[in-house]
Amino acid sequence: MTALSSRHIISMDDLSADDITLILDTAESFAEVNERRIKKLPTLRGRTVINLFLEPSTRTRTSFEIAAKRLSADAINMTGSASATVKGESLRDTAATLSAMACDLIVVRHSYAGAPHVLTECMDAHVVNGGDGMHQHPTQALLDLFTMRRRASRLEGLTVGIVGDIAHSRVAGSLVPALLTVGATPVIIAPPTLLPARPDVLGAEVSTSLDEALPALDVAYMLRIQMERAEGMPFPSLREYARFYGMNEARLAAAKPDMFVMHPGPMNRGVEVSSGVADSPRTVVLDQVNAGVAVRMAVMYLLLGGEGGGAAA
Ligand code: NCD
Repeated sequence: MTALSSRHIISMDDLSADDITLILDTAESFAEVNERRIKKLPTLRGRTVINLFLEPSTRTRTSFEIAAKRLSADAINMTGSASATVKGESLRDTAATLSAMACDLIVVRHSYAGAPHVLTECMDAHVVNGGDGMHQHPTQALLDLFTMRRRASRLEGLTVGIVGDIAHSRVAGSLVPALLTVGATPVIIAPPTLLPARPDVLGAEVSTSLDEALPALDVAYMLRIQMERAEGMPFPSLREYARFYGMNEARLAAAKPDMFVMHPGPMNRGVEVSSGVADSPRTVVLDQVNAGVAVRMAVMYLLLGGEGGGAAA
């Protein structure tokens, strides 16, 4: 298989197990390029990629931009305050304008779940969801799978605890179906107030106790508390949350010796993870960031119809 089955990547439902394997294998070849002194390939020369980021972002936006530039595409960044949306332009009009400029691929981050789908209806460009509201963040799930596969040498059969703010997390919204597709076992671990009634995370096992779930985990994936999306504080205090749902040295010691810790960033040290754990070799957050560039290169390359074997092209 050398092509993706979908023109767009809006949610993990767009991707089959074969699609995921193709993306991860292609990303491996780009990861190798990212270790060279000269990191640029001519593959997407003459193609235009727009990063339309209407919600805050550091690593996702930068990593899409670096990915596009390493493939020699022309990458244009539009952020919330710099785009006409602050002047009241509708998303459809913004999309029509960008379409008229003949962009080939657009990455969109938006607070409205469904915004990337709207773009697919009014643009010819390929659309990649860079995070839409509380819905999905598929390239995050893909880079997480890439990181897990490298660290654990497999995906099938891994038990992955996803800990914390499931209710508001688009990261969980993509990671749960992604894990199910590759034959891993997602376990959602959260206080009852942060457990959602969301269909996209159904299919995961559910626990309200990190200490009870911990011994079975191969991976502990800690989510950021989404203060900006929560109405009021969904638990008594951050200290209380850290005590019951934070990853700390004592919990690391009680886990399987090869269990490792992940976090999508930005990390609240002392809340989801203690500072000691954040800096420990059992935490792979920087590997995740590193994987982000290779995986986004693979996604752009495959959507824009690159031929040949990834970095070899
Ligand atoms: C995530 C996001 O924005 O959804 N961050 C990211 O993309 N690295 C997770 C978060 O903000 O908690």
